Amino acid sequence: MADYATLAKSIASLTEGETDTVALMATIVCELHHGDDRFDWTGFYRVAEPGLLKIGPYQGGHGCLVIPFERGVCGVAARTGEIQLVADVDSFPGHIACASSTRSEIVLPVRNAAGEIIAVLDIDSDLPGAFTDEDTQALDAILTATFARQGS
Ligand code: SME
Repeated sequence: MADYATLAKSIASLTEGETDTVALMATIVCELHHGDDRFDWTGFYRVAEPGLLKIGPYQGGHGCLVIPFERGVCGVAARTGEIQLVADVDSFPGHIACASSTRSEIVLPVRNAAGEIIAVLDIDSDLPGAFTDEDTQALDAILTATFARQGS
């Protein structure tokens, strides 16, 4: 399990004063990905145009470049604005399998200071049922602290 208190502190200190969205995303994925052995793919998909996600900074094997809001776990999170915690990706209709080793995942919407969804954070694990409500809360807090201070 990640030491979220330490991760949150290091991300806050590394990104202090930074407002560039890609710089923030790159720093967060690096810290998270190397901070927890359960995280086999860690990355952002950005809302590039209405209804369309495009790949952002990530770590792990290559990810799909484009995900429409109608597709995948990422699409559901972007469309509904609700965090998706998927214990078994095989039982999630429409899951996009970029890596066949992925067993479970968590996807969180990323909102700016105006409350608009600007991206989603997708973390995939090769372990089944890897994520819990503790991950949900800690990751959501990191995203809010980092991106909700941004303008629209
Ligand atoms: N887990 C995603 C897609 C996987 S990636 O492209 C790394 C989904 O179904 O939304």
